[in-house]
Amino acid sequence: MKNLFEFIKEAEEKKTAIGHFNVSDIVGLRAVFEAARELNVPVIIGVSEGERGFIGVKQISALVKSFQEEYDYPIFLNADHTHSLDKLKEVVEAGFDSAVFDGSKLSIEENIKITKDAVELAKSISVSRRTNFIIEGEIGYIGSGSIILKEIPEDAAINPEDFTKLENATKFVKETGVNLFAPAVGNIHGIITNGNPKLDIERIKEIRKSAGVPLVLHGGSGIKDEDFLAAIDAGISVIHINTELRIAWRKGMEAALSQNPEEIVPYKILPKAVEEIKAIVIQRLKLFNKLI
Ligand code: G3H
Ligand code: ZN
Repeated sequence: MKNLFEFIKEAEEKKTAIGHFNVSDIVGLRAVFEAARELNVPVIIGVSEGERGFIGVKQISALVKSFQEEYDYPIFLNADHTHSLDKLKEVVEAGFDSAVFDGSKLSIEENIKITKDAVELAKSISVSRRTNFIIEGEIGYIGSGSIILKEIPEDAAINPEDFTKLENATKFVKETGVNLFAPAVGNIHGIITNGNPKLDIERIKEIRKSAGVPLVLHGGSGIKDEDFLAAIDAGISVIHINTELRIAWRKGMEAALSQNPEEIVPYKILPKAVEEIKAIVIQRLKLFNKLI
């Protein structure tokens, strides 16, 4: 089977994007896997430090591998928003496929310094384990919660002058050696109740040219379909979605509990949450893979 980076390069050539979906448990994992398999497209499971703290680092790695091996399926595992070298070491050793090293709150110089260390650390462990580990770096703070927000976080980059600058993107990728790059181009983590901002498509195009590596779009929830398609055509090859799945999980749980007020059997309640999450993942994967 092709490795994750090969799938990303292939998506880039086809002008499609690979869907990256965050999960907190087996409900989310099953929903994402079933959706991808139904459409026969590669998929990335994302777990932030909080999400993998709940499932267990080794446990989520074993679960994803079990789907990969049993079904011979291109399902990959990413350590999303990893903030320290210790946490990075843990996931490379646990057999994850990739990590987002998140220095986005630091100054560009500090971000370059620590991300470079992250790339070297991951490389040294993965070479000895003979695995292909991918490191993604990012510049520009875009908020940190996959939640519903009344307002855009104050320090988030939403004005064009705060978006990722071409020269910084080029310098960052060159000096750190990251395999993937996540820019701030109007994307925000979470869903803003009165509408998420528009993406700066021209800037995505220019950043892709100057950065020289595939681009990842974070904060996918709440972005309009036409913006996604334009962003993919401009050079985005991986798209992260989380908040929309968390809303679907809650909707499914509430519906199942209220429709079955006496039910106490978890496996009779949880399929409704799987169903709701799966419906969103299918919609997003169809769009990202241009199947509609
Ligand atoms: O890394 C996770 C994503 O960027 C999710 O963002 O919650 O806005 O979909 P989202
Ligand atoms: Zn993110």
